[in-house]
Amino acid sequence: MKVYGLPEDEIKEALVSGQVTVAVYGLGKMGLPLACVFAQRGARVVGVDINPAVVAKVNQGICPVEGEPGLPELLKSVVAQKRLSATTDGVSAARESDVLIILVPTLLDQSKNPDLTAIVAAAEVIAGGLSCGDFVILESTVPPRTTRDVLLPILKGSGLTEEEFGLAHCPERTMSGRAIRDICGSYPKVVGGVNQRSTATAAAIYSVINQKGVVRVSDATTAEMVKISEGIFRDVNIALANELALACQDMGVNPEEVFHVANEPYDETSGRHHFNFHRPGAGVGGHCIPVYPYFLTKTTRTDTSLIMTARRVNEAMPYRMVDLVVEGLNEIEKSVNGSKVLLLGLAFRGGVKEARYSPALPIIQKLKLLKADVYLYDPLFEPEEIAETGARPGNGFAGMDCLVIVTDHPEFKDINWEQVALQMSSKVIVDGRQVVKPEEVKRLGFIYKGIGRL
Ligand SMILES: NC(=O)c1ccc[n+]([C@@H]2O[C@H](COP(=O)([O-])OP(=O)(O)OC[C@H]3O[C@@H](n4cnc5c(N)ncnc54)[C@H](O)[C@@H]3O)[C@@H](O)[C@H]2O)c1
Repeated sequence: MKVYGLPEDEIKEALVSGQVTVAVYGLGKMGLPLACVFAQRGARVVGVDINPAVVAKVNQGICPVEGEPGLPELLKSVVAQKRLSATTDGVSAARESDVLIILVPTLLDQSKNPDLTAIVAAAEVIAGGLSCGDFVILESTVPPRTTRDVLLPILKGSGLTEEEFGLAHCPERTMSGRAIRDICGSYPKVVGGVNQRSTATAAAIYSVINQKGVVRVSDATTAEMVKISEGIFRDVNIALANELALACQDMGVNPEEVFHVANEPYDETSGRHHFNFHRPGAGVGGHCIPVYPYFLTKTTRTDTSLIMTARRVNEAMPYRMVDLVVEGLNEIEKSVNGSKVLLLGLAFRGGVKEARYSPALPIIQKLKLLKADVYLYDPLFEPEEIAETGARPGNGFAGMDCLVIVTDHPEFKDINWEQVALQMSSKVIVDGRQVVKPEEVKRLGFIYKGIGRL
């Protein structure tokens, strides 16, 4: 049933009573949970992905996405109930659907310009099957004006006029590892249409799945700016914490103590803070925060030197980690050249299997340039995946000269340092995530170097 422009109550009723078919383009870490949640709420859902292996797994009720609590069970149940099926045929999916959601990756090219290839490809496929009354939603994070200036013209290539279909940007505001919880209502859904009818239609659709409701913004470009601004806010604040942490260390002051005291609530009753310093660390990874600043800086004519400086500070942190490796080894009169260095963690964030833009990658590259013998261990990655980084798959601490903690995986917090001390050749730890208790390892004879700690 076509829902674009209908009264909001009718749209909600049609969705929960199974009269609406929703197509989700991109069955990745974000798209698959979204497809499952719509199916659970009553919609008929067709998932579209260019990867036949993903489609085959979804149709068998086998979850291709790792590390999303509740997703394997939900997928199995909605596939068994025949509410969700998957296909590689995006044009047919568009023909049989009423609401079409794009949630494919948006990355950067070699020159750090936004790479919208996947969005353009998905939009062209949708245009091939678009019909009057269809409603298209872009959820992928994009540079401001993409919905209006890139997506709308492609969809009009279907032969339909702007009045005959709806279009909105409703940005994904979720984190890997908690997608279902976030989709269902950690934050209200931001909805911005290319016209008022589109905003209202999007509001009705998302109020069915999001318990916190929706925030209607002026237009699609405002919605795009909300999402980009959130990412940039984090990037700039992390850069500030990184720079202050380095300055504290230079002054002989413990950054941990400074941030802890500054972040204390000033009003115990309301819990309000004067300040909310972020955590300094080995670098900012994942395919969101390191990417989104460029979506703005590469598209606006405004001077974005503050945002670019923050990006440069964060991009330099992995190299600061390498400096600490060199300093630590030099303190025991060892050269990095020929030393065995074991990195702990490839994932950009603890507990999340995602290596894109991980600080581990530049750390490995630089250490190899300095002729270190580089090993890498991450409990979430197979040895073959580790080998693709250029490091050797690590298998224990025996014979290592230096450990470099890049990720705050829970397992790293439980390492028995007494055992490790017995196995390593030289005892240097570089801690990029404040995982180790410095006093404990120093007592065992380790040289401890860390970001954010004295
Ligand atoms: N992962 C996160 O934590 C997160 C959080 C917020 C927003 N986002 C945004 O969500 C979007 C998707 O991210 P993700 O983490 O789900 O990506 P992902 O890499 O996990 O999955 C993307 C999927 O899209 C498929 N795909 C690629 N091109 C396609 C096309 N033309 N048609 C159909 N399918 C196609 C891929 O095969 C893959 O299965 C990105 O724009 C990202 O910025 C991600």
